[in-house]
Amino acid sequence: MPSSLPWFSGFPLYLAPMAGVSDKIFRQFCKERGADVLVTEFVSAEGVFRRNERTREYLDFDECERPIGVQLFGGNAEHMAEAAKHVVDWVRPDFIDLNFGCPVNKVVAKNGGSALLKDCPTLTAVAGAVVRAVAPLPVTAKIRIGWDADSINAPRVATILEETGIQAVAVHGRTRAQGYSGEADWKVIGEVVEAISIPVIGNGDLTSGADVIRRRAETGIAGAMIGRAAMSAPWIFDHVKHYFATGEQLASPTIEEKWALIQRHCQLAVEEWGREDQAIRSMRARLMAYSKAFPHAKLLREKFQHVSSLAEIDAIASQHRQLQGTAV
Ligand SMILES: Cc1cc2nc3c(=O)[nH]c(=O)nc-3n(C[C@H](O)[C@H](O)[C@H](O)COP(=O)(O)O)c2cc1C
Repeated sequence: MPSSLPWFSGFPLYLAPMAGVSDKIFRQFCKERGADVLVTEFVSAEGVFRRNERTREYLDFDECERPIGVQLFGGNAEHMAEAAKHVVDWVRPDFIDLNFGCPVNKVVAKNGGSALLKDCPTLTAVAGAVVRAVAPLPVTAKIRIGWDADSINAPRVATILEETGIQAVAVHGRTRAQGYSGEADWKVIGEVVEAISIPVIGNGDLTSGADVIRRRAETGIAGAMIGRAAMSAPWIFDHVKHYFATGEQLASPTIEEKWALIQRHCQLAVEEWGREDQAIRSMRARLMAYSKAFPHAKLLREKFQHVSSLAEIDAIASQHRQLQGTAV
């Protein structure tokens, strides 16, 4: 059955929602480099009511990012429905995405995120309420394969979600108990594909075009979602598409191209924050991730730990180029 979500006419590559990472700047970087569908960092339903500054930032996106979904989390059906309606009135996303996968204690303690994987009545109530509240706008969901190894229930959860009117499900192939350790279990992702007729987006440990092709062939997923690999290599989406089209691996961008990307990212962060020191400090974790794509990564990481200005980034880039013998 064809999906009512137009981006499933092909095999869409999603940038995974990542709190603290997939902000507007990074989403646009990935979009420019081949990501087809974007999702915001998760937003608390309660934060939407308070309309606080942080929430406003999370919801901010540009037209060029469409199709884009706003991801909401929370464990109260009524509040989630109200929050979803506010978001739709406020920013008019292409879809609402419900977070049923977050493993973080603070979220789970309030019965949000992956807590709902072991509370199917509440999961049903939340999903149903949001679907009704924003109809005809589509609602999708992101889940893990279960709470822990003894309670893997993603096929059942996905079936419930389909019955409540959810239009696509992204499955991260780990349990909540695993956090980010171990390997994603793609067998269970395949079982979810078998169980439902809406599109399933496979997620977990994808790092190359070859990975995506293999997992697609094994499971029949309708799309793929990439998270951590994009943090250090946002060009991965173009690379996956090139591999799909030709069976060949594109060469990694040159060091110059990588530095240009990092410097642009820092510059845009400064413009966004309005305060250079704050912006660059907030970039430290991002710089650590980028360093993985570089030779002499350890050296770069040590330096990135202390940066707080664009001039320091420029100086590190110059030193690094000299180290490579590529000084210009
Ligand atoms: C730093 C970080 C933040 C994340 N934040 C979110 C989030 O806000 N919402 C969500 O559904 N998943 C979140 N995730 C999970 C990712 O979307 C994804 O499911 C997970 O990283 C596995 O995919 P990967 O192996 O491609 O990274 C986060 C992951 C990381 C590493």
